[in-house]
Amino acid sequence: MNRDNRGSSAHGNDARPQHPSGVYQALLGGKTKYPADEEVANGIIETYRQAGLDARASTWAARHFMHRSTWWLAAERGVEQFLDVGCGTPIEPNLPQIAQHAQPGARVLSVDNDPIALRYCEARLHGSPQEQTAYVYGDLTQPDSILGAPEFRKLLDLSQPVGLCLNNMLCFVPDSANPHEKVAELIDALCPGSYVTLTHPTADFQDMGDIERTYNANSDDGILRLRGRDDILRFVDGLELVEPGLTLCHRWRPDVMVPNLGDGSMPVVDSSRISDVEDSKYALVAMKP
Ligand SMILES: C[S@@+](CC[C@H](N)C(=O)[O-])C[C@H]1O[C@@H](n2cnc3c(N)ncnc32)[C@H](O)[C@@H]1O
Repeated sequence: MNRDNRGSSAHGNDARPQHPSGVYQALLGGKTKYPADEEVANGIIETYRQAGLDARASTWAARHFMHRSTWWLAAERGVEQFLDVGCGTPIEPNLPQIAQHAQPGARVLSVDNDPIALRYCEARLHGSPQEQTAYVYGDLTQPDSILGAPEFRKLLDLSQPVGLCLNNMLCFVPDSANPHEKVAELIDALCPGSYVTLTHPTADFQDMGDIERTYNANSDDGILRLRGRDDILRFVDGLELVEPGLTLCHRWRPDVMVPNLGDGSMPVVDSSRISDVEDSKYALVAMKP
């Protein structure tokens, strides 16, 4: 199935096949989604429900990790530059809002390989500090498309630490594309003191076969990939894990308090009380020594 809809309109294209950014919106309760996204999300919600689990709270656990880890890097570690790969469509509050609230001068380069998601992001840029925020087309499987983007050099000072955010996106990169090597190429470009944040779904806590089948039902080559603990740790080989190390999204520093920066467009969901099975997504923050 061809998932690259470069020629289609960002508004009113109901025929667009399911896409990770839209399924994610639908799972979180957002509006930027297409019918195919909603269908997949509803299938996942139903599968969770039949197991007595809450797919929405589970998905929010990953988004809340993004909130806390971004805030922690900017507010506690003084990181002023972020490279957000696989940024997705806008979901209030977004990573630049959180980073720039903690560090008003923070610069954020957001990257995605979904042109439609990028169009929604760019539409949101009006009124925000444009010289500090940019959205560009780039693909993790082609690191040069990110490292070679004019906005990359313009926005990021590579002599200073960068927070490389790979939240909830590596699961869409198959092993055949060598994601570990590609991530290492990005990390190589960053100076010591830089950080990586990462979330990734796993089948280490429950049989996720039904979820995988639901997600991949309309795709010949598969969209969602789950990875185990060791495979995920390999993404940050040579880096120092920040306490509490590799853990589940809802367990990563739950005490980090992020100001409420949303505009009320998203539902308020408490993801702090979910079980490990319900979460089933690893999270980590690691520092380049
Ligand atoms: C589920 S959304 C994650 C949104 C956000 N990072 C978060 O954690 O809340 C995943 C995004 O990754 C993007 N993506 C998937 N594979 C990618 C790749 N190879 N390069 C860049 N972006 C990719 C998708 O287009 C999608 O917008």
